[in-house]
Amino acid sequence: MEVLSNIASGKAHGKIILIGEHSVVHNEPAIAIPFTSANVEVTIEKLYGETTIESIYHTGKIKDAPVELNNLIETLKAVCDYFDTSIENLHITINSNIPAERGMGSSAAVATALVRALFHTFETDLSDELLYQFVSISENIAHGNPSGLDAKVVSSTDSIFYVKNKNADFFKLDLPGYLVVADTGQKGATGEAVTDVGRLVADRKTGAKQLVSGLGDLANQARRFIETKDLERLGEILDQAQNNLRQLTVSNDKLDFLIRTAKDNGALGAKLTGGGRGGCMIALVDKADRAQQLTEAFLEAGASKTWIHPLGENINVK
Ligand code: PMV
Repeated sequence: MEVLSNIASGKAHGKIILIGEHSVVHNEPAIAIPFTSANVEVTIEKLYGETTIESIYHTGKIKDAPVELNNLIETLKAVCDYFDTSIENLHITINSNIPAERGMGSSAAVATALVRALFHTFETDLSDELLYQFVSISENIAHGNPSGLDAKVVSSTDSIFYVKNKNADFFKLDLPGYLVVADTGQKGATGEAVTDVGRLVADRKTGAKQLVSGLGDLANQARRFIETKDLERLGEILDQAQNNLRQLTVSNDKLDFLIRTAKDNGALGAKLTGGGRGGCMIALVDKADRAQQLTEAFLEAGASKTWIHPLGENINVK
């Protein structure tokens, strides 16, 4: 094949929802943090011929790609339409260490990196608003009824206080603590969980509406404790949020077990993160050695992977 030009690339990272998953879909506030230890790079090479893709789901022509890639292919088509060009002559490579379907924003991050790489390929500046519009195409296919939170945070290096269709306040998170993230090793079920919570909220008898608005209150309180750098109170808020999420049926046995493990090992608070029913959980701790100790406890308790995420600008992993 003849090479038409150099390789262009686009990057993005994962995200951690500190508080407000699920309730954010119902217009309550949420707080999310960019998770730069997990990232993705999409590279695009211009070659003559049918467009091909290299990814964990498929390597070959995009016309033979499985449904898992529909969201990306529709996004690719939309960007090519925008540039008034056919979706040919591209070789797309996706390199990601963001675990897929674990509540870490993998789908939004890959779509963000793809759109950025395409705009680099077409040598055109990309505004945040346009990026968000293209990534929303992908998220609508991947999740059905996304709040838009993932799409905002995977392209930002700041944390975000977010209310759907209303405001996205970006801020620099700076707390004297760490989040320890543990992967259950189980795929989450975001779409299904969002639908089920929606059904519960629609049925007044379930009390789910109160649980969801309670999560909104907790997110507002979390924001205040972030501002006052009160880790202990923030930890209590995370515990209360997990209690609501459990009652909304989006936790599961393995998440509950890892959360108990966190509390038994001195975490200030612990909860699931993302869509739930699998995927990842987070635990808040105040000291680096406690974070280290917790990763060991998580691995012993069956976590498939752990990460330590410092919350301050000036603290490092030991
Ligand atoms: O599982 P993730 O990473 O897609 O996070 C889902 C977060 C939800 O609040 C459950 C859904 C949403 O669109 O915000």
